[in-house]
Amino acid sequence: MLRTHTCGELSTEYLNQSVTLSGWVKRRRDHGGLIFIDLRDQYGVTQIVFNPKNSIKSYNIAKSLRNEFVIKINGNVESRPEDSENSNLVTGDIEVSVDELEILNTSKTTPFEIDDDINVNEEIRLKYRYLDLRRDKLHSDIRTRSQISYLVRNYMVRHGFCEIETPMLMKSTPEGARDFLVPSRNFAGKFFALPQSPQTYKQLLMVSGFDKYFQIVRCFRDEDLRKDRQPEFTQIDIEMSFVEENDVIEVASNLTQNLFKEILNVDIELPIKRMEYTEAFETFGTDKPDLRFDLKITRINKIFQDTDFNAFSSVLENNGEIACIIIEDGQRFSRKQIDNLINDAKNYGAKGLSFFRFNENEVITGVAKFLKDEEKMRLIDDLNLKEGNLVLIVADNYQTTFEVLGQVRLIVSEQLNMIDKSQYNLVWITDFPLFEYDSDEQRYVARHHPFTSPALDDIENLEKTPDKVKARAYDLVLNGNEIAGGSIRIHNSDLQQKMFKTLGISKEEAENKFGFLLDALKYGAPPHGGIAFGLDRLVMILTGNNSIRDVIAFPKTNSGFSLMDMAPSEVDDKQLLELSIKTIDF
Ligand code: AMO
Repeated sequence: MLRTHTCGELSTEYLNQSVTLSGWVKRRRDHGGLIFIDLRDQYGVTQIVFNPKNSIKSYNIAKSLRNEFVIKINGNVESRPEDSENSNLVTGDIEVSVDELEILNTSKTTPFEIDDDINVNEEIRLKYRYLDLRRDKLHSDIRTRSQISYLVRNYMVRHGFCEIETPMLMKSTPEGARDFLVPSRNFAGKFFALPQSPQTYKQLLMVSGFDKYFQIVRCFRDEDLRKDRQPEFTQIDIEMSFVEENDVIEVASNLTQNLFKEILNVDIELPIKRMEYTEAFETFGTDKPDLRFDLKITRINKIFQDTDFNAFSSVLENNGEIACIIIEDGQRFSRKQIDNLINDAKNYGAKGLSFFRFNENEVITGVAKFLKDEEKMRLIDDLNLKEGNLVLIVADNYQTTFEVLGQVRLIVSEQLNMIDKSQYNLVWITDFPLFEYDSDEQRYVARHHPFTSPALDDIENLEKTPDKVKARAYDLVLNGNEIAGGSIRIHNSDLQQKMFKTLGISKEEAENKFGFLLDALKYGAPPHGGIAFGLDRLVMILTGNNSIRDVIAFPKTNSGFSLMDMAPSEVDDKQLLELSIKTIDF
């Protein structure tokens, strides 16, 4: 090793010892004939001192040191002079007085200072990610990620799960998002797909009798990105045989509890609470409610059954919904802020956002002028309005009404600082609909994926009333983030075939795309189910970050581009030729 100790380890215990340290120059200070360097490595920072009386040669070389030079020094551990100790550092009571200095490498001036307190534009950080990763917070979060992966493996193996790798090059099988395709050289004109998840493989492993499987696995999805989505991300993938919903939920809850205890020393109370999808959607406007604050949505259709207000009556005539949220401290919202909320609501797809205030026992401003006295009275009574309340209303179709109010709820909570950021609020969302209607494609699509089992009581209605069928699916939501999702699967080939039919996938297409799975299910497939955690999202929350990019060593930008190595990039014509691929300029 090019060192005897790390930069995070020396203390007064080591006084008068001769040591060798290697690391990066974090800071250089020239002080009355002495040169001080903060020497940094992964483990910490140690102050080293160049005194010409010790070694004039080293002192002279030290004058040329610049930030981020990589150096090796030999020296003696000494106490720092009184009053110059730094109690924030493990090494704060000592310094190393240097005898010998070797410059192992120089450094250009870095595009940003390697310091957590410096605010750097994210594009620059991503372009120079290897420097960004030198910064303490990011560096330590990536190490926490490694520890979390270790804990997961350890926990799963201790509980009898077997880690099995599954192919990265697989058949393109639609699972919700777009596939990343890999052209085959050996089979001209044919493509592999990168797995959106190992879903079909883990089910096949159940058919093979691997009772409890897990894998920490990379998944690839070509979809619109956000701060909690990357085109490649990592799942903790789990599958078990002979299980029902509660069995999978229990394993995932216990694993979550274990991680919180180990990483944050936070006790998660079990069982984690549960909420049915419909309640979550109609109360919080989303299937991933942030329950760290209240602010519930209330349906107010009944109050407006005979309304003269056209915007509301027309919605009710079309079987739409009228719902609202009540902001206790409504005075804090100026007219301008309300206008901004109206714009937000429109951006989220609503036709508008109505409002009124309750001041001095009266319903006033906004839509108040369109409402009958009896409607106002009922609003006051039914909503139990209090002085200063501001009521925000959306009237639209079912989906839009709740979804938009859900978004407005989040915006308002941020603006009013309603979220206790120290809380970890977990909830299982259950009883999802099996399908959702895709109006672009004019057909039902699977809400989770096409291998999710319908609720047993609903199987006979699968084709008759698909919109009413519930799924045996469950999601784990943490502070408004979906951190895991799974289901009990279909293990019967006929039912799987029926499911494809309901999804508008013809027999031939099903055979072509999923023939291997349909076949496998015919050879004694056991009842099985599982779940997958989004590891990046879990690590993001456990490390107190807001974006999964902050816990991925080399993430892509929001548009799916790697600013560091400039991928994706063009390739040689020769490479394309080998793959029998011609590009077309659009
Ligand atoms: P699902 O699609 O819900 O389920 O994914 C499981 C979890 O993975 C995380 N996740 C993502 N994280 C970052 N970037 C993305 N683009 C991204 N997409 C998903 C989420 C999500 O909860 N095969 C099923 C699992 C199963 O049924 O067992 C699946 O992939 O945290």
